[in-house]
Amino acid sequence: ILRKRVVVLGGDGIGPEVCQEGVRVLKAVAERFGHEFIFDHQLMGACAIDATGDPLPEKTLAACWQADAVLLGAIGDPKYDNNPAAKVRPEQGLLKLRKSLGLYANIRPVTAYDRLLEHSPLKKDRIQGVDMLIFRELTGGIYFGEKGRTGDGAAFDQCTYTREEIARVAHRAFHAAENRRQKLTLVDKANVLETSRLWREVVQEIAPQYPGVVVDYLFVDNAAMQLILNPRQFDVLLTENMFGDILSDEASVIAGSLGLLPSASVGDQIALFEPIHGSFPQAKGKGIANPIATILSAAMLLEHFGLQAEADCVKEAVDNALERGVLTPELTSGVPYTTEQVGSFIAYGVLDLQDCQLH
Ligand code: IPM
Ligand code: MN
Repeated sequence: ILRKRVVVLGGDGIGPEVCQEGVRVLKAVAERFGHEFIFDHQLMGACAIDATGDPLPEKTLAACWQADAVLLGAIGDPKYDNNPAAKVRPEQGLLKLRKSLGLYANIRPVTAYDRLLEHSPLKKDRIQGVDMLIFRELTGGIYFGEKGRTGDGAAFDQCTYTREEIARVAHRAFHAAENRRQKLTLVDKANVLETSRLWREVVQEIAPQYPGVVVDYLFVDNAAMQLILNPRQFDVLLTENMFGDILSDEASVIAGSLGLLPSASVGDQIALFEPIHGSFPQAKGKGIANPIATILSAAMLLEHFGLQAEADCVKEAVDNALERGVLTPELTSGVPYTTEQVGSFIAYGVLDLQDCQLH
């Protein structure tokens, strides 16, 4: 029996709706397996700016440090996107949170679900069986470099990586590859960028510590093409912050929807779990958002707590929802289910009561 404290950062747009379903499923897990999860809801993102002027209030950060894990929905609001002059932005909250909590490795699994193969715009025979893990460096690179405007009206964003920043995420990726199909692909732009050449150098130095793992190197432009052309070649894909951001959205097309991809952000202390999608403001309050990415993020949270059977139970319930066609509108041309119905169906599955709900 475990007693754990989880900070919930619903955020903006559809964030609170999908988080509600993640929490519903975690509550079902607690009930089924006899754990106690305490949920502490806090503000981050545009909602925090509206309430306090700060996208990451001190109170939120303090609550995260008090917690055993953080579950995050999504942040972002068009009123900031369309105003390039805005000084305070919701994204600053998320970036500061990742940096403050030391979440340097963002792990994004990409799976092709058999039930959804027909739904992907990609050809079935190319994507069937895809099972990859993207390791995205999360607290360095161009996202966190010096940025600004010069006197003559130009703008700059600096990209810097230290050996240590590369090594720590690389070790995690190698370790994961050892426990999977033993292949690691480093994605970079080493033909042009000095930071990328350092990535190659550090990864080459580390590789001998993982003799079972075959290392492959791809330039990011080619990798973007290979992801669509032959995605099954990838096992563990390791890359820097911005390349990882872009390639993981691309990879979600394999799964069939951006609303299916979860992630775990880990460092040496606390961990955070969030869907890879954004706040989808147009869908807010309509009940059309897919909660599965958040629910699978909750499953990764359970794994992080060492609760493998509990995590497997959630993943099975998700599979069952997909199998039975309990799908949000972006995944079906039939009658769609709402965010809450999908979440409830999965929660019932965890409680082993799914059949009762369908009938
Ligand atoms: C993500 C998002 C964020 C990122 C944004 C919201 C800052 O796109 O988590 O992938 O770019 O990291
Ligand atoms: Mn992104």
